[in-house]
Amino acid sequence: MPIKPNFLERFAFYRLNAGPAPMLDLGGALAYQVVSTAVQLNIFNLLAEASATPAELTQRLNSHLRGTQRLLEALRAIGYVDVNNGRYHNTSMTQKWFLDSDSLDIVSGTKCWDLFLRELWPQAGDVVMSGKRPYDFYEFVTQDPAISDAFQQMMVGNANISGPEIIKKIGLPQQAGRLLDVGGGHGVFTVLFCEAYPDLHATVIDSEMALKTAERHVSTHKLDQRIELYAGDFWQLDWGTNHDLILLFNVLHHFDIPTNEKLLAKANAALIPGGKVAILEQVEGDVFGSASEALVRLIGFMYYLFADGRIFSDAELTSMLTHAGFNGIKDQKLSKVPGHSLVTAVA
Ligand SMILES: C[S@@+](CC[C@H](N)C(=O)[O-])C[C@H]1O[C@@H](n2cnc3c(N)ncnc32)[C@H](O)[C@@H]1O
Repeated sequence: MPIKPNFLERFAFYRLNAGPAPMLDLGGALAYQVVSTAVQLNIFNLLAEASATPAELTQRLNSHLRGTQRLLEALRAIGYVDVNNGRYHNTSMTQKWFLDSDSLDIVSGTKCWDLFLRELWPQAGDVVMSGKRPYDFYEFVTQDPAISDAFQQMMVGNANISGPEIIKKIGLPQQAGRLLDVGGGHGVFTVLFCEAYPDLHATVIDSEMALKTAERHVSTHKLDQRIELYAGDFWQLDWGTNHDLILLFNVLHHFDIPTNEKLLAKANAALIPGGKVAILEQVEGDVFGSASEALVRLIGFMYYLFADGRIFSDAELTSMLTHAGFNGIKDQKLSKVPGHSLVTAVA
């Protein structure tokens, strides 16, 4: 497991304050670097092909023996690999979260994280002091096609995990004909909807670079005839009219409340009467555990750092929808992605 104190250590660090608990955060930074190094060197994939002694892995990697040994030992200490009779293998955690394709794509996440830690996080102090950012986050992630694709792929896992439950919970009428996915990026939510509703035609709006990832998913699922990819700035583009459903998934956290109310009003105008908007967002409060609560706060700060964004509460999402003229607001929790809300409302 990622650095995991045992019962006595937890008691000493957290209850008695007898040891320097902040060292765990410093160690967490080292743990991340060790995992990122393993990803860069493709170690988890090599161990998935066959378990290996350090010497065998050194040969396969054409690496330095002592370095390979030290890296494997560090990975073992934080639960990413284990050793049996001198042979290292991936743990089930590594297998599930790094290698199984329908789970989260943490390899892509690591590529993005490396770049964010190197280029954006060092500016955090200046951003907090001035409230200004010397970068535009989406220009930053689209400067390189490989980074843009990794950023989109990082979000695909979430879509695969939550998509089926979201589709069920939204409950689109069978005859629904038109879906618009605003800021739909990788296009996977739209692909899942079109597979569930054979009469549905859909449009995904995002930047040209982001839509390159969507293009791949759409064509893999042979949905080119039913899904249109519409490149551009969603503030400038005409969204058309008569959509049955508009998705605004993980988009609102980029903007403040008045800006989101404008975006929602644009959605309202593009829906058929009785059509629905669906918002998917991480929300404040109502998180099931202290680690999840900490993650929500840390990610909330990251949204601020990257784009002056933030995480909203359920009450704020409801209020924005009401101000944008929606009614029939329904707020649902998702079992597979705790800490997120699916909020739907009727035009
Ligand atoms: C956090 S991602 C969410 C992607 C997807 N909806 C999901 O939930 O996995 C936000 C997306 O909004 C897109 N986006 C942000 N501002 C945009 C704008 N002004 N015009 C078009 N797309 C935009 C980004 O390119 C990115 O793909």
